[in-house]
Amino acid sequence: MRQTVSPAGRLEGVVRLPGDKSISHRYAMIASLAEGSSRITNYSTGADCHSTLGCVRSLGIEVLEEGTTVTIHGRGLHGWRAPHNDLDAGNSGSTIRMMSGLLAGQPFTSRIFGDESLSRRPMDRVMKPLAQMGAKIEARENRFPPLVIHGGEVHPIDYTLPVASAQVKTCVLFAGLFADGETIVREPIRSRDHTEIALREFGADLRAERKVITLKGRPTLTGRELTVPSDLSSAAFFLVAGLLVPGSSLVIQNVGLNPTRSSLLDFLLSIGAPVSVLRLESVNGEPIGDVQVRHAPVRGGVIEKDLAAALIDEIPVLAVLGAASEQGLVIRDAQELRIKETDRIATVAENFQRMGIEVAVTPDGMRIPGKQKFRPASFDSFGDHRIAMAFAVASLAAGGPSTIDNAEAASVSFPEFWDILASVAR
Ligand code: S3P
Repeated sequence: MRQTVSPAGRLEGVVRLPGDKSISHRYAMIASLAEGSSRITNYSTGADCHSTLGCVRSLGIEVLEEGTTVTIHGRGLHGWRAPHNDLDAGNSGSTIRMMSGLLAGQPFTSRIFGDESLSRRPMDRVMKPLAQMGAKIEARENRFPPLVIHGGEVHPIDYTLPVASAQVKTCVLFAGLFADGETIVREPIRSRDHTEIALREFGADLRAERKVITLKGRPTLTGRELTVPSDLSSAAFFLVAGLLVPGSSLVIQNVGLNPTRSSLLDFLLSIGAPVSVLRLESVNGEPIGDVQVRHAPVRGGVIEKDLAAALIDEIPVLAVLGAASEQGLVIRDAQELRIKETDRIATVAENFQRMGIEVAVTPDGMRIPGKQKFRPASFDSFGDHRIAMAFAVASLAAGGPSTIDNAEAASVSFPEFWDILASVAR
């Protein structure tokens, strides 16, 4: 699909965005191993989270969907059945990496695969700890999907993550659910902690002390009612759009503001962006609030070290903001960008070039000079949802209409993106 985006006069309105992708995956997976039913409201509409539901169904668990409310009838920790078909993770790294941990503890063999992009993403980061736990996993070139997981008895481990990755942390903790004893995960940098919060909500015995997480294996998980906050990583596109387009004022409601995700707001504030949190409450252990943004020039700055890990999903759209900022933006220590749905350093740079934006690419980031003029262009998402949406935002500030090829990629996390964008553009 080719989407045309015209420059906006201003953006204005109050919007509600779909449920958080990271939290939706975790709620669905844990609910499928809980005893009794879980009712999850505001479940993500993104294709990725539906890949997770598809996998759970293939494992014999009943899943009912009514709009964005999903009811999962769990049958306890040992309630999955051997699947009759291969499990399809689609485009979703979270699905394949987190499900691998759960599949490692099953008394059957399963095969999980993904689309072309996912088939190029490394899985050795989950295969290594799972092998230490006793799992036997085969992969293409020992590294890439599809994975054949010979489930069985798994042992607890004390594992230090070599990379900051919430997906890998979750995979190890999920396998640890089936191990007899305490599984310990040590993180180099504190990554998003939705798994820890969700496991506790379902009744697991889990302690998190700074960057060390300890989980007691073989818990009884109990089905429950849950509400997913709206996705801050989706809100990021509207926050940057509001900052870029003169005269804009937007309020985004019920956004997840977990401190392991909300570095985005801290970073925006630190570069002079007028963003504010209007209301704050806690739902299922996750902080939720309304976020307001108004147009203003921003200074720009540096994203590096821990901040690069914390903002990894938002860097494409922050790069766009950086090109409009007063001093520009330097991004370092973000080599993980190269193994996302696309090589996001390369795909951002390619689209920048198409719109005449200057950028210097480095192995682990980029340097983007500020105060650049945005020219209309023909962009490509390269099949990556966050690239599609980042360059839709760039198009709003260009001097004429732009197009985005393969714009349907946005549906991976945010199918309503184009409609919501049109509804706030004046
Ligand atoms: C996610 C963790 C991050 C993030 C991804 C979602 C999660 O990946 O980029 O979009 O839900 O745990 P890594 O674990 O590879 O850093």
